[in-house]
Amino acid sequence: MSKISTSTQSDIEKAAKALLAGSLVAFPTETVYGLGADATNSKAVGRIYSVKGRPVDHPLIVHISSIQQIYKWAVDIPEYAKKLANKFWPGPMTLILKRSELAKDFITGGQNNVGLRVPAQPVALALLKEFEKLGGSGIAAPSANRFGAVSPTTAAAVQEEIGKYLGPKDFLLDGGASLVGIESTIIGCTSEIPLILRPGAITTDMIQASIKLAPKFNSLNSSIRVSGMLPTHYAPNAKVKITGITKPGDGFIALSNIPTPDGAVRLAAPNDLDEYAKLLYTAFRAADFHGLTTISVIPPKGDGIALAIRDRLIKASG
Ligand code: TXA
Ligand code: MG
Repeated sequence: MSKISTSTQSDIEKAAKALLAGSLVAFPTETVYGLGADATNSKAVGRIYSVKGRPVDHPLIVHISSIQQIYKWAVDIPEYAKKLANKFWPGPMTLILKRSELAKDFITGGQNNVGLRVPAQPVALALLKEFEKLGGSGIAAPSANRFGAVSPTTAAAVQEEIGKYLGPKDFLLDGGASLVGIESTIIGCTSEIPLILRPGAITTDMIQASIKLAPKFNSLNSSIRVSGMLPTHYAPNAKVKITGITKPGDGFIALSNIPTPDGAVRLAAPNDLDEYAKLLYTAFRAADFHGLTTISVIPPKGDGIALAIRDRLIKASG
């Protein structure tokens, strides 16, 4: 088991060296914590799959330190994708682009596209810069949870999820709680119109306002593989119910203006939608920690990030 390190500059330098040597580094991002490996090292990437218990044909997002690095990993980048990158990176957005030679099948799941993201989190950016300074090209990182489970938003949650699968040469960098709390918006950029494959904090309106093009939503029978599109995902052990009906002893998650039903255990009372996203996974974990069997959730209404929250709630509830 690797120990949690505090992410001083010296820790980050050691972690970057470890990545280059083929070890794994779990690190904070503003969305959720990632489990990183050198994206050009098939053996190291292979370990991500075994630690997560994830099927090997699921593609991984490559994290890079700046927009300039996009040209290493992708070709034929549409103008609207460049605009999105300029506007929202560093930030909670992943672009799916036509891959370059550098993006091998073990990263893309054999597809012709690669997912790229510049995260907006100081420890993540420092790690990426250090890794690139040493000659690295990008860090492949899925969320640092076991396959199908809830994404971790703190270092302690990473330790709980996968700590026992990490070795003494691996690192777990602590950067505090993730500010966004749900995974990045994934936008397919391989056709004329951008396609939202996973909603997130970069919302449809934000995308449309910046590129003057209305994005489309992915349909479930799309041929693009996105593991978050499986029927259950992001799921705690407790059963998630989005009916709003509770029985005594159930966990309860709703906006703060909605009172706790009699006998229910309040797991989160966010004041607004951003806080809802930030607290959601921690609330799921708290339910499992307390051994609750059911979590009753009142989903937020409206567009924007509310849509992303409902997406995760629907996935979690199966
Ligand atoms: O916020 C995030 O995106 C976090 C942090 C760590 O960056 N990462 C994350 O990775 O959520 P992961 O692997 O847990 O979810 C990424 C999703 C997966 O469902 C994967 O199948 C999809 O993105 N994906 C990655 N590359 C893809 C590609 N080339 N084409 C289609 N889908 C892709
Ligand atoms: Mg994930």
